[in-house]
Amino acid sequence: MILVTGATGNIGSALLRELHEAGAAPVRALTRDAGRAAFPEGIEAVEGDLAQADSLKAALEGVRSLFLLSGMGAEAEVLAAARQAGVEHVVLVSSITVQTHPHLPAAGENLAVERLLKDSGMAWTVLRPTQFASNTLWWAQSIREQGVVRAPYADIGLPAIHPADIAAVARAALTEPGHHGQTYALTGPERITVRRQVAAIAAASGREVACIEISREEAHRQLAPLLGDETADAVLDLLGGDVNEELLKVRDTVPRVTGSAARSFRQWASEQGAAFR
Ligand SMILES: NC(=O)c1ccc[n+]([C@@H]2O[C@H](COP(=O)([O-])OP(=O)(O)OC[C@H]3O[C@@H](n4cnc5c(N)ncnc54)[C@H](OP(=O)(O)O)[C@@H]3O)[C@@H](O)[C@H]2O)c1
Repeated sequence: MILVTGATGNIGSALLRELHEAGAAPVRALTRDAGRAAFPEGIEAVEGDLAQADSLKAALEGVRSLFLLSGMGAEAEVLAAARQAGVEHVVLVSSITVQTHPHLPAAGENLAVERLLKDSGMAWTVLRPTQFASNTLWWAQSIREQGVVRAPYADIGLPAIHPADIAAVARAALTEPGHHGQTYALTGPERITVRRQVAAIAAASGREVACIEISREEAHRQLAPLLGDETADAVLDLLGGDVNEELLKVRDTVPRVTGSAARSFRQWASEQGAAFR
């Protein structure tokens, strides 16, 4: 039995499709609210909260492989519960910031979870993806209502990744040999600037979208009330304020692990056009 956490999210929903199509059996999908979730036929929905490990008893029963998102708050207890339930292998979604920006608090937290997993006695595979293409859904409301994106660092290109490629690597790690004890840094196939992302979304949604570069200070004024000062600063550093070669680097991990080329941002936008109309 494979348990997929974050099953209603960007990676998890793509991973369920991958596992369903590959005929990998059996698969269970975790959500906090099964009433709101719709999963492919044959996939068992189960309720549980990753912030409360004792809510995961039913979800973990009989599970041998676990796909786990980091950052939900109770990783130490969740990993202990998984070990106790007989889980043999965990595929963990961490973040590339562990190696590009280890001084940031969120990166330190991800590294701590990676270490907990490596010390857990279970086999492990760690995925360290870069910025997701799906983060641009943050712009959807402004695009739909005003036909505009206001963003800082509009001409800095980062190798954004299609979440389905993270799922494809996870599927390989969960179902094929050779991935235990591996740490995979994952990126898209090319660096793409905010300006080019906006142009791709405009083309995919069939509408004109202006891209207006704003200052870091203005972006911080918008983000800080939502994220807090420190996280807003960290996000802005990662978007362009403090990038480094390690963050900018395009990696071949996705094609190496999956045997297929990494999907472009343009492809992601073409699949999501409706969200921006
Ligand atoms: N976005 C980026 O650029 C980026 C970069 C590197 C790493 N990451 C990592 O990627 C992961 C996010 O992946 P994603 O984009 O696929 O997720 P997402 O689309 O943001 O969805 C979040 C998922 O997590 C589930 N969830 C949230 N809180 C939960 C809880 N307390 N207990 C159980 N499930 C919970 C939600 O399920 P329900 O609502 O159905 O319960 C949902 O399926 C995070 O670990 C993040 O740190 C993101």
